[in-house]
Amino acid sequence: MVREIMQVVETIEALREARAALTGRVGLVPTMGALHAGHLSLVEQARAECDAVMVSIFVNPTQFGPNEDLSRYPRDLAHDLSLLERAGVDVVFTPTPELMYPPDFQTWVEVAEVSKGLEGERRPGHFRGVATVVAKLFNLFQPHAAYFGQKDAQQVVVIKRMVLDLNFPLEIIVCPTQREADGLALSSRNVYLNADQRRAAAVLSRALLAAGAAYEGGERHPEKLRAAMLAVLQAEPLAQPEYVSAADARTLQELTLPGETPVLLSMAVRVGTTRLIDNMLLPPALNNRADLTAVLGR
Ligand code: PAJ
Repeated sequence: MVREIMQVVETIEALREARAALTGRVGLVPTMGALHAGHLSLVEQARAECDAVMVSIFVNPTQFGPNEDLSRYPRDLAHDLSLLERAGVDVVFTPTPELMYPPDFQTWVEVAEVSKGLEGERRPGHFRGVATVVAKLFNLFQPHAAYFGQKDAQQVVVIKRMVLDLNFPLEIIVCPTQREADGLALSSRNVYLNADQRRAAAVLSRALLAAGAAYEGGERHPEKLRAAMLAVLQAEPLAQPEYVSAADARTLQELTLPGETPVLLSMAVRVGTTRLIDNMLLPPALNNRADLTAVLGR
């Protein structure tokens, strides 16, 4: 099969033109670059389900807090583009911050309730930045489907809510978290870890698996599941847990009583100065594309 070469566009006019030239089902994978196999798994799923795949690479300043890592966030556009070309992507959009946020920019998207807990509570304004940029990307790309990773589970719930509330005519697809051999969830931020911290970072997934094993062994009490995660985290001296959560996967409300709803286990942990997050659905059999897409949020 002869494939068109990948188009890289930097302006809104060029993006709209490239989009208009595509036919059939169009998939979008929004990213902040520094691409790894987690991002590429979204591209691969989009390739499998769509006629054309578009990717955005934009380190969105509005989703970073004042004391977060915006200035040192890893960037390697040349490498990203070569990965996307090999993955068979049709169009990549690489806007500047000035293009996305001109000086007189003043419109924001706030998803009220599901942005509040978990990451939203520790990162004020984060999901306002995410929802705003993703709304802009949906308007710019007009995709039929957009692909997001389980890794950022609350982000999925926020974006699904926004899509329903603002009537975006597209489907949100959720792909399972891709991991290193020792369980560490792939993340652009893993490059911040030194060798000792890198070894310690596997404790997040071990904590999730411990709670998963307790669940499989019949444990249903959310407090016990949180305690099982915390016990594993506390045994790792290089890890400082920020929170552990066992929440209703649809509403993200913290659970207090054992119930029948799917549970989202999640956590944020500092390893040195690096803040890592991870999560898992219970029952463990739900951590696949179809169930994640159906069960996370509404
Ligand atoms: P970024 O962190 O670059 O992630 C882009 C997409 O890749 C997100 O949907 C994220 O959940 C997914 N992803 C990251 N690590 C993953 C892993 N290990 N396995 C599977 N998927 C993974 O998330 C963002 O960018 C931004 O908030 C964005 C949505 C682009 C808005 O700025």
